[in-house]
Amino acid sequence: MQHSEVTARVRTLLGEEGLAQAFAPIEEASGLPNAAYWSEEWLALEQERVFRRSWVFAGAEAELVEPGAMKPIEIGGAPLVVVRGRDGIVRAFHNVCRHRGARLVTEPCRKSTLTCPYHAWNYGLDGKLRARPHFLGPDQVDRFDNGGGDKLDLVAVRTEVWNGCIFVNVSGDAQPLADWLAPLLRRTGSYDFSAIRWAGKLEFEVRANWKLVYENYMEGYHVFAVHPRLIKFAPMNIRWSGEWQDHVFYNDYVFPQVEEGRGDGLPHYPGLPPADAQRGLWFLCFPHFAAEVYPDQFTLLVSYPVAPDLTREELHVFLVGEAATAETFREPRTALMKMWDDLNREDIGVLELLQQGRRSPAYDGGRLSPHWEGPTHQFGRRIVEKVMAP
Ligand code: FES
Ligand SMILES: [Fe+2]
Repeated sequence: MQHSEVTARVRTLLGEEGLAQAFAPIEEASGLPNAAYWSEEWLALEQERVFRRSWVFAGAEAELVEPGAMKPIEIGGAPLVVVRGRDGIVRAFHNVCRHRGARLVTEPCRKSTLTCPYHAWNYGLDGKLRARPHFLGPDQVDRFDNGGGDKLDLVAVRTEVWNGCIFVNVSGDAQPLADWLAPLLRRTGSYDFSAIRWAGKLEFEVRANWKLVYENYMEGYHVFAVHPRLIKFAPMNIRWSGEWQDHVFYNDYVFPQVEEGRGDGLPHYPGLPPADAQRGLWFLCFPHFAAEVYPDQFTLLVSYPVAPDLTREELHVFLVGEAATAETFREPRTALMKMWDDLNREDIGVLELLQQGRRSPAYDGGRLSPHWEGPTHQFGRRIVEKVMAP
């Protein structure tokens, strides 16, 4: 779509008033209009212009332990597959056969090659075409020793790995991953992330728009009403609104006491200064890489839009060193997973109400708290800016 066309569509979908609200000062601003949460067309714009152009989390390396391990994933509305090669390197490809376009991989699995279920074109783990049985006539197999070239090999997607986290960038022209992560890393210099190991993931289906997940994630305003356990651990008076720095949202607090699931019973980062032993920090690297850093963990909340009113969430937990897998840490690890599961379900309950409320013609984006919800408003603004960017 031409840029002028995109601008015109945005004006129609959000309305002049909705658009103006996204750029208004927080004291007068509303959230995004309802269409941004229900419109298929708006989501398609976000997929193409936000998700495909950004670095996006595609899973943990530990999900693909052995060569030949692969998992399909949808990013920016495009089917991809992430594969660990024979050489141990993790690569991503568009998950589509170069013949008639069948989707190749439909579930996580481990295979020595990728074979299309339709006419059995066969690709190596490096994405190169290897063979096409019967393509040139009955019982003839044309084989390729060095792949089939640009028109026949699987289309690679730019991929990078950072401390066990796999990132992909579909458009191929996002800034270098290290620059994209830099605002997070600058604030976490005392945490040795090379020590983190994947402990597992939780998956959720949320009947709400993906943006609501992060609008809620950023503001501590709802904690007293929604999270009975969390509010005891971290009361309102130690919280602030957080702030954006470039494309990264940041918030933190110093909590009065460690508890199970946050700092207690599991090893802390090696060499972590005492000042950080009771500190929680959380980030959102736009658009969807939300990372919570506690003295004993690195926990991700990553949302993948499926439909305007449906989001797939993955919560990945990384712990320090052997705590991620050793039997001796099973109990505190299980308790920590349960804590995140409970907490996230509390949030999902309200997210679904927010989605339903956006069907009301009486809702106009609401009134935001200037104390707490400035960053939430800026998230909406950032979405609009990215969608409208050339
Ligand atoms: S569509 Fe894949 S081999 Fe025909
Ligand atoms: Fe919450």
